[in-house]
Amino acid sequence: MGIMIKDLIESTDLISLSSKHALSAKADDFTLLAEEEVEQVTLPVIDFSLLTTGSTDQRSKIIEGLRTACLHWGFFMVTNHGVPEGLKEELIKSCMNFFDLSPEEKSVYDVENAVDPCILDPILCGTNFNPASESVSFWRDYLRVLVHPVFHSPPKPEGLSEVLSEYSKRSRDITKELLKAIMEGLELEEDDIEKSLELKSGVQKFSANLYPPCPQPKLAIGLPPHADHGLLTLLMQNDVGGLQIKNKGKWVAVNAIPNSIMVNIGDHMEVLSNGKYKTVVHRAVVNNKETRISLVMTNGPPTKTAIS
Ligand code: OGA
Ligand code: NI
Repeated sequence: MGIMIKDLIESTDLISLSSKHALSAKADDFTLLAEEEVEQVTLPVIDFSLLTTGSTDQRSKIIEGLRTACLHWGFFMVTNHGVPEGLKEELIKSCMNFFDLSPEEKSVYDVENAVDPCILDPILCGTNFNPASESVSFWRDYLRVLVHPVFHSPPKPEGLSEVLSEYSKRSRDITKELLKAIMEGLELEEDDIEKSLELKSGVQKFSANLYPPCPQPKLAIGLPPHADHGLLTLLMQNDVGGLQIKNKGKWVAVNAIPNSIMVNIGDHMEVLSNGKYKTVVHRAVVNNKETRISLVMTNGPPTKTAIS
């Protein structure tokens, strides 16, 4: 059975990282962490309520805002999105409760027990995605669940399934509105996206990422640099930062407005926009003080849909 970071910390008096978790000097993109003072940036802000209930003029301004955000950042912050704070808090609490289950209870979903871990496995947990091929362990535990077109959820802890289902629905609605507006900005027909991508049967994947405090944060990586699959990824977090994005060749740390949802472009959107909007490489760093949790929803087209 794989050992999750949280269980490792709780079972020992950890003061320094083992070679399994410490980054090696060979890992180019990681070594930056040791020296670099990363600049903090504020992402473009998109007021979601103006997309749905604003005047024509206000809506046009938001569409233009999305266009520039997608062109220059590939990342933006959505405010007034209608997801109640209470729902987010409940989801955070339920995910924390999942990580608090005993190692035996979690082992049913452990990626290390999966014969051939696959992107379409309905429920997985662990620290790395593909432990066999990744040499450095990430300082992160995750729970990853496919929630659409077929909804899945671990039955335990109690309450997780209900809040996850509710958030999945709400985040799908938000994604749909954002995609429509992004398509308008690209001067594509609004209806085309619905038809060509069949969003109703799109694949939605939820991940809860838990980043426990790390005794040597500069030697570890929460999540290494990567770009996301799919069209749009929605990310909410507890109020602890850690997300960094590569903007114009430089790593910058993202400052989130409390209760906003961070959204980024995935590789399907890059294809859909004919390469105009680029997917953005990002990573998560860790700290030695507070536990961070991020709730990440990736929204993609159905598995069968070919995008051109
Ligand atoms: C992801 C991701 C970043 C974070 O799960 O794809 O990029 O801050 N997460 O947890
Ligand atoms: Ni990501």
